Amino acid sequence: MSSFRCLVVSLPILVLFLGSLPSNANAITFRHPTNFSVGIEGIVFCKSCKLQGYDKSMDASPVPGATASLLCIVGKRGATVKATTDSNGYFLIQTSTLTSFTARKCRVFVKPSPLRYCNVAVYPGRGGAALKFERVLKLPNNELQILYTAGAFVFGPRNVTMCPQM
Ligand SMILES: *[C@@H]1O[C@H](CO)[C@@H](O)[C@H](O)[C@H]1NC(C)=O
Ligand SMILES: *[C@@H]1O[C@H](CO)[C@@H](O)[C@H](O)[C@H]1NC(C)=O
Repeated sequence: MSSFRCLVVSLPILVLFLGSLPSNANAITFRHPTNFSVGIEGIVFCKSCKLQGYDKSMDASPVPGATASLLCIVGKRGATVKATTDSNGYFLIQTSTLTSFTARKCRVFVKPSPLRYCNVAVYPGRGGAALKFERVLKLPNNELQILYTAGAFVFGPRNVTMCPQM
């Protein structure tokens, strides 16, 4: 657990504090480790189909009920944590159980869209998405959550004539 803390907390928190401390960044120590978790957010779209929540500027609609999986290589093993998109196509994978998390060793994959007419993967493709650090959140229970984004996952129909007509 302690190596997990060091690896995950040190980098982003350092970044956060460097901006607010007037001087000596070396003075930062972590004598009182706080509980924390990792959150990874992202969004799943169907391109070209006009569904509930269609965004004209993007020509895309949110995909609810899609499964996003965080895959991390932890030591010699793999660890997976999943989440499902809501009606806005938004997912938030949360974990406090990965024991040696480093964002570099994780990728997010989204299963083929549950929409049968919109399940051709357009972006980011087979390799999944890397994690990008966003910010550190303080949750109501005083826990810190280190938030990353996996960005947007886009699916499309084989042929736009397959989209349901609104
Ligand atoms: C972390 O969580 C555990 C169990 O939930 C609790 O016992 C402990 O006091 C917490 N530590 C801190 C620093 O908040
Ligand atoms: C899409 O489907 C329509 C109707 O089935 C067909 O006429 C059209 O050629 C198709 N377009 C493409 C790009 O396959």
